[in-house]
Amino acid sequence: MPKGKIIVIGNEKGGTGKSTLAMHLIAWLLHQKKTVASIDLDGRQGTLTHYIQNRADYAELHHVALELPVHLSVTVRANPDPQQRKEDEDAFIKQLDKLQKENDVIIIDTPGADSYLFRLAHVVADVLITPLNDSLIDLDVLAQIEPETLTIKSPAHYAQTVWQARQQRASQKKPQTRWFVLRNRMMHVSTRNEKLIWKLLEALGKRINFTALSGLGERVVFRELFLKGLTLLDVGKPKVGISMSMPHIAARQELRAILQAIGEDISS
Ligand SMILES: Nc1ncnc2c1ncn2[C@@H]1O[C@H](COP(=O)(O)OP(=O)(O)OP(=O)(O)O)[C@@H](O)[C@H]1O
Ligand SMILES: [Mg+2]
Repeated sequence: MPKGKIIVIGNEKGGTGKSTLAMHLIAWLLHQKKTVASIDLDGRQGTLTHYIQNRADYAELHHVALELPVHLSVTVRANPDPQQRKEDEDAFIKQLDKLQKENDVIIIDTPGADSYLFRLAHVVADVLITPLNDSLIDLDVLAQIEPETLTIKSPAHYAQTVWQARQQRASQKKPQTRWFVLRNRMMHVSTRNEKLIWKLLEALGKRINFTALSGLGERVVFRELFLKGLTLLDVGKPKVGISMSMPHIAARQELRAILQAIGEDISS
């Protein structure tokens, strides 16, 4: 694996499972003995930072070895003037360069809203993963849908953000970002709505160049894991204190399928 691959978890929509997925990717890569750095660009909310802190606390309290990344939290200014913006962008690139030299992979978790550093993260992304709640409302950030025919009218604002980032990458002669859109919190029964979302996502993926992936089902286990700083990969380990149950097994299978689908892009 070349040093310093940058994986960004992004969506211009809140609460779609970005931080949860970021933590699971970090744990999986660490488990594979990769050196991993993580950046929480959502420093104000700090979900990923708290997740990692919970993990360190749990490891200490229960005397269990849990792998941890090198972690950095960044707070984006609300209204920067041009000079502050330039300073922040330069500082971000400098930090990234350093982390890239020292780590196999950098995982960047982003807030669910546009900002200057959010855009910069999308420009530096070798791989972009966009989790999406499994509903037509969430699809709205990617595409406008024609209500009568239920077909795609045009790409929407987040798709345009990614397009602009890709243009900027192309001007820097960097290879195109590999983009995966992942359906999260899927319901366990197949509905007409679910089939429609899948059909629209596949069609949109062909048009704006992403791979649509079937993701994680709706499961309460994720909330329990956050407070302990644990991931599905830790469940069932000696001394961890959570025994494997059916929902864990099912969720782990889904996670494995996601990691397999994107794994080649991460490792090459
Ligand atoms: N597959 C899932 N099943 C059930 N709950 C989930 C699932 N994925 C995430 N969640 C829960 O959804 C909530 C939002 O998840 P998370 O914080 O990872 O989203 P986010 O996209 O990072 O949000 P934000 O935009 O606020 O940063 C959390 O309570 C999390 O535990
Ligand atoms: Mg988050």
